Amino acid sequence: MASISTKVGNFSLDNPVILASGILDETSGSILRSIRSGAGAVVTKSIGMKERKGYPTPVISEISTGLLNAVGLSNPGIDNFIEEFKNFPEKKRTIVSIFGGSVEDFVTLARKVEGAGFDKIELNLSCPHVQGVGSEVGQDADLVESIITEIKERTNLHIWAKLTPNVTDIISLAKASEKADAYVLINTLRATGVEIYSRKFVLANIVGGYSGPGIKPVALRAVYDVYKETGKDIVGVGGITNWQDAIEFFLVGARAIQIGTALLYEDYPIYKKINNGITQYLDSEGFSGLDEIVGVMVNDGTLQGH
Ligand SMILES: Cc1cc2nc3c(=O)[nH]c(=O)nc-3n(C[C@H](O)[C@H](O)[C@H](O)COP(=O)(O)O)c2cc1C
Repeated sequence: MASISTKVGNFSLDNPVILASGILDETSGSILRSIRSGAGAVVTKSIGMKERKGYPTPVISEISTGLLNAVGLSNPGIDNFIEEFKNFPEKKRTIVSIFGGSVEDFVTLARKVEGAGFDKIELNLSCPHVQGVGSEVGQDADLVESIITEIKERTNLHIWAKLTPNVTDIISLAKASEKADAYVLINTLRATGVEIYSRKFVLANIVGGYSGPGIKPVALRAVYDVYKETGKDIVGVGGITNWQDAIEFFLVGARAIQIGTALLYEDYPIYKKINNGITQYLDSEGFSGLDEIVGVMVNDGTLQGH
């Protein structure tokens, strides 16, 4: 049977399907449930310096091609998070997502995460709807570079940089993040929605992030562009609902994938379903391991020059 183990930087995973930040990952219990259900790793909800309540409701709205959300980075704050995860048994398979408004915030958060016994972080440089943090920080290539350089110098953490797709030039951002161990592409797209009879916006915050099947082509393009330009390790995320979607991301350069919105629809069996599908695809196509298909549509020259 083909192997679906993978490596992102020096992080080895038994399988490539990871829980994305912000979906059913608010408590240690719900995170553990994803791991026990077959996720190769999990990313926590993004954690900041202080507790944030988030935006007034409605914060989520379902549309035909996915979800709109403006949760507003609600989170318990780093100190409460550390307390909650004190005796968490799966720290090695957990990537702690952090967000901040300055280099100092990010470094302080990273050091606290490391002090609490975790060894991997994902930098949320990309939340599309909260002022002063997220993609406002993440669109500033110099700031992104300083954040990653400082964390690398002052901790031993394995770092994933989650970049915003809400820019025209994602390559510059990727290059500014090159000291990270891997890129995570993509966060949600800035979007809004209108209810025609109440004549109200569907989200209290008006603008939110768009996720789910409708954003998959954008995410695939981001992975393809960044892999082609940098050849670096990438974790693909955006609209992945089934194993076929996952394979598409591997073929254009992702070494692992994350699922968010689909977990809300498909529930916890989704991890095993996707992993089984990947194994069957590799077997039936004559590959012995997942690494054989990563980036083939970029590396074998078939797309060069187009
Ligand atoms: C309700 C909700 C909350 C989210 N919260 C976060 C978050 O706290 N940090 C983050 O980096 N991404 C967050 N995201 C973005 C997801 O991690 C993911 O990048 C995005 O939803 C695209 O993947 P998907 O189409 O599989 O959902 C959130 C997405 C949703 C739908």
